[in-house]
Amino acid sequence: MRDLTSETITEAVISTMRDTKDARVAEILESLVRHVHAFVREVDLTEEEWARGIDFLTRTGQKCTATRQEFILLSDVLGVTMLVDALGNQRPAEATQNSVLGPFFRDDRPQQADGADISGGLPGTPLFFEGRVVNREGAPVSGAAVDVWHSDADGHYDVDVPGLEDDSAMRALFRTDEKGHFSFRSIRPASYPIPGDGPVGELMSATGRSLMRPAHVHLLVEAPGFQRVTTMLFPSDDLYLDADPVFGVKESLVESFETYEADAGPCRELTDEPYTLLRRAFVLEPLPVD
Ligand code: BEZ
Ligand code: FE
Repeated sequence: MRDLTSETITEAVISTMRDTKDARVAEILESLVRHVHAFVREVDLTEEEWARGIDFLTRTGQKCTATRQEFILLSDVLGVTMLVDALGNQRPAEATQNSVLGPFFRDDRPQQADGADISGGLPGTPLFFEGRVVNREGAPVSGAAVDVWHSDADGHYDVDVPGLEDDSAMRALFRTDEKGHFSFRSIRPASYPIPGDGPVGELMSATGRSLMRPAHVHLLVEAPGFQRVTTMLFPSDDLYLDADPVFGVKESLVESFETYEADAGPCRELTDEPYTLLRRAFVLEPLPVD
């Protein structure tokens, strides 16, 4: 293996990995080497460009902390997160589709009773949410775990709201009742930018892309015997639906967030302000039998 050229180096690298024991690891690494080499050849990468790429990846790693994952954000904005999800979670159109998990999920959230107010007392348009978890046949799934988290009316999650006393506002875990129901009260979330103060922000600005995600409510639904659903619901009147920087919008997840005057509609007894009511069923797919 001497005097390798731009023609022979790819096969030479692959041949060094022929003793890889795990067949899947071997398949992935061979393909990775072939694609990276093909990319370098295709764009005729210069030494300066290579050094810039290494610097970008180095800074992406350096930006990562316990609460900031710049590599996942990079995967999100390059569409890799949603591509992996699309390949691994193909579901019939009637089933609830996945979207990105995002960086704001926390597993130390409080469990709340049905109907709880999870707004943490933050200002905003009241949002009443009535959910139902069902199987393919429409039968209720009781005892399902439903995580909910969302931003405030300024587009901040609880972790980013200065001086917030309730350190887990706008997030909670619910359990569906025997009819598959869960419900809560909160405030309407707003659209917000993905973090732009790192290398991913540089990439977004270099490519003229907006950081703004459409407003959404995140939900994660889990029940024994069913595929986990990591999803979110978007209001149909949001300005950013067709420019989501992380490619998470699906038509089936766009909902009309019905708005009512204070003295009208099904929740008029519960508030003296104009409010939004969101009703939604989540259809779970059974786990594949092996
Ligand atoms: C979010 O919706 O919370 C999110 C998703 C991907 C990247 C950044 C934020
Ligand atoms: Fe979010």
